[in-house]
Amino acid sequence: MSYYKINDLENYFKMYKKSVREPRKFWDKIADENFSWYQRWDKVFEFDIEEAQFKWFTNAKVNIVKNCIDRHLNKRGDKTAIIFEPNNPEEEAQHITYNELYVKVAKMANVLKSQGIKKGDRVCIYLPMIPELAVAVLACARIGAIHSVVFAGFSSTALSSRINDSQCKMVITSDGGFRGNKTINLKGIVDEALKDCPSVEKVLVAKRTNENIAIKEGRDLWLQPLLDEALDNHVAEIMDAEDPLFILYTSGSTGKPKGMVHTTAGYMVYTAYTFKNVFNYEENDVYWCTADIGWITGHSYIVYGPLLNGATTVMFEGVPSYPDFSRFWQVIEKHKVTQFYTAPTAIRALAKESVDYVKGFPLSSLKVIGSVGEPINEEAWHWYNDHVGGKRCPLVDTWWQTETGGIMISPIPFVTPTKPTYASLPLPGIQPVLMDELRNEIEGNQVTGSLCIKFPWPSMARTIWGDHERYKQTYFSAYPGKYFTGDGALRDEVGYYRITGRVDDVIIVSGHNLGTAPIEDTINEHPAVAESAIVGFPHDVKGNALYGFVILKESGESRNQDNLRNEINNLIADKIGPISKLDKIQFVNGLPKTRSGKIMRRILRKIAEGEDGNFGDITTLLNPEIVEEIKNGKL
Ligand code: WTA
Repeated sequence: MSYYKINDLENYFKMYKKSVREPRKFWDKIADENFSWYQRWDKVFEFDIEEAQFKWFTNAKVNIVKNCIDRHLNKRGDKTAIIFEPNNPEEEAQHITYNELYVKVAKMANVLKSQGIKKGDRVCIYLPMIPELAVAVLACARIGAIHSVVFAGFSSTALSSRINDSQCKMVITSDGGFRGNKTINLKGIVDEALKDCPSVEKVLVAKRTNENIAIKEGRDLWLQPLLDEALDNHVAEIMDAEDPLFILYTSGSTGKPKGMVHTTAGYMVYTAYTFKNVFNYEENDVYWCTADIGWITGHSYIVYGPLLNGATTVMFEGVPSYPDFSRFWQVIEKHKVTQFYTAPTAIRALAKESVDYVKGFPLSSLKVIGSVGEPINEEAWHWYNDHVGGKRCPLVDTWWQTETGGIMISPIPFVTPTKPTYASLPLPGIQPVLMDELRNEIEGNQVTGSLCIKFPWPSMARTIWGDHERYKQTYFSAYPGKYFTGDGALRDEVGYYRITGRVDDVIIVSGHNLGTAPIEDTINEHPAVAESAIVGFPHDVKGNALYGFVILKESGESRNQDNLRNEINNLIADKIGPISKLDKIQFVNGLPKTRSGKIMRRILRKIAEGEDGNFGDITTLLNPEIVEEIKNGKL
């Protein structure tokens, strides 16, 4: 019996029990049988939860890209590794075979080296969803440089703070990018960001939109001529199991974004294993995840997970609404996609449009459909299951996080019976627990609590770049001895998990995690603003939208309120990115505060949600009268 593939429910329970009883044996066998190593590990894992120190496959030597590409070349050299589907359907799709991918990555690796990048250096990648993005990621990993991909929708300020936090030596970008009918001038954003980034020595520029852009002598280089000149083979760097593979920034509830650090071997083993099982991947499948590689979903399940399994993975440059709302279904038909993995916000946006957009397509190639990024509501679940999955494809609602590296709780298709809105059961090796307010583990079923994981798993983030203390505090202090996810969950009568949402100050808008603090800090930078608080409120398409309560300084009170609202939103778009703009801004005279000065967001949340009375106990507030006043002014 292979440990790598779960065949039926009985087999799942057997595997699960084994993974809990004998985690060493379980992971040892999976790692041993399915990857190519330069040197084996001394220990499968070692950890000290108190200090938040974790090691997997200690002292093993490996290169993840050799596992993604080189070892497939004998058997699958001519097989398509990446299908690139451009933004404009009239532009031809590209099919990149494993042989071709090898050459592209080898050339890029040689370019990086010739431009002074060494093992351990940080390289920032700020690219649209074009093949160069996947190639750049793989080339970094091949030479042991640590990639830090920044989603190309972020502003120059967000980009520069990420570059500076990890002291990147190089930025890889493009002249621009296409998204629907928009063209985005990425190089301009990079130029702006780099005014403030002394660590960056070189900028490599891929060509995509062919617009005129500025090239700074001595710093900026067009990528293509360098690739043309570069040697087409490269010996992969030998990496230690625990060498950092990448940094990926995620919003925290407070302060600046956290640079989550993922390391090599554990991440490799876990993403490969989960890709195979959660998507029921088989040799000739064509797998498509619609995420951007700028997010963890793209790292783990567009690039690494699929390529580690020798799969064909689709990279889509565009958006679901361009040229019209049937684009997803057209692409599925065109490439005969077998697994389709997207986000609830996309499903909700499409479900709002005429069902004829999807009905015209049989989608008979599909085998499994998946969801990720936020809770999928019942209506969206059924729409997706009925109209896309045709009630015949299992819908895998996959719960996980940037920090977890890979999928943690999910049905296994054709194995776990699905239940609408439930991520269902933990994958082997994952031990979720629910905790009550007194920090006790809640036993039994039909209970709700804070979701923690009580045993380490291979792909967990190892630290926050440059700030291990923050890592320890954020994830391992709320519930001593356990990893705290920041999510709440309920466990039903058979032990299925349903994720109910964040229990901290992170708000998920269209699948993007937004921390309240950095947005409030930005609003407060506006010269007319004295103080602000933002909360989420339910939104049909985005899941949640942002509602801001803003106190103005005297100087602002005479100003036109709509102009102020626009200025505040422009400031946010500029400093953080357009995703973080507020849907509603209410100007108020005060915010409900506790005697210790803490804003009671619980109350603001209820007001934003349209609750009329029931605000719970407000007698502990410093200024209880403000609650009624804010409620009366609700937008
Ligand atoms: C939320 C994305 C409910 C959750 C992979 C988590 C989900 C956060 C689901 C992580 C799901 C993700 N059901 N909620 N299937 N998947 N979430 O870091 O709140 O971008 O903590 O990673 O998204 O978002 P992140």
